[in-house]
Amino acid sequence: MLKVSNLTKEYPTPAGPLTILSDVSLEFQRGDAAAIMGPSGSGKSTLLYIIGALEPPTSGTVTLDGLNPFSLDEPAQAAFRNDNVGFVFQDHCLLPQCSVIENVLTPTLVSRENKNYTKRAGSLLDQVGLTERLTHRPAELSGGEKQRVAIARALICEPLLLLCDEPTGNLDRHSAENIASILLDLHQKQNTILIVVTHSPELAAHFPVRFELIDHKLQRVS
Ligand SMILES: Nc1ncnc2c1ncn2[C@@H]1O[C@H](COP(=O)(O)OP(=O)(O)OP(=O)(O)O)[C@@H](O)[C@H]1O
Ligand SMILES: [Mg+2]
Repeated sequence: MLKVSNLTKEYPTPAGPLTILSDVSLEFQRGDAAAIMGPSGSGKSTLLYIIGALEPPTSGTVTLDGLNPFSLDEPAQAAFRNDNVGFVFQDHCLLPQCSVIENVLTPTLVSRENKNYTKRAGSLLDQVGLTERLTHRPAELSGGEKQRVAIARALICEPLLLLCDEPTGNLDRHSAENIASILLDLHQKQNTILIVVTHSPELAAHFPVRFELIDHKLQRVS
């Protein structure tokens, strides 16, 4: 279970602390899927980064199956992220010099598990429809294809948490629909906790549970 309790995030600025998140709490079980919406600058990426243990909160706690990643030292925190968190970044962050399959395999380089990840990478890339693109470099892919590689990479280490920041941000309607159905399909097959941050009402409409970040607070809207 993912439990976020009374989370606050402030950034120091010359004019004093800048509040981004205030008293945010939520709970998700394995198999849950939710969308988080909100205006630009409202703190959606910040919240996702904190949930994914990429950025510490100012106060409050995040626990995954009872473990608070921010209580761990840095190497243990990195291992926690590698084992539990799949992150699809707002600008996908693929390595330009690596091929599609190499990009998907990157997280496994530091994995402590000794599994046949190449087979799993091939299967994930098949599921996102990229079997014909395994040796392409990111520059040789369309925007939607890059997002699909990022989704396969996020799932390679079988994470409990699949966190997606604007996964359909720069895509046309058809490609966005395609990414949405791939995400929900893989989420169901892998039984993850899926949290998607989006500006798109069409993407959010795929999720039964929706939140909005308004005035630093998270409000459930459906
Ligand atoms: N390191 C930082 N120092 C100071 N302020 C920051 C820092 N990182 C983010 N912010 C501020 O926090 C606010 C929230 O940023 P965040 O990226 O979470 O917004 P967002 O809701 O994801 O926006 P968008 O929809 O445009 O991606 C912004 O106003 C931003 O300027
Ligand atoms: Mg953002």
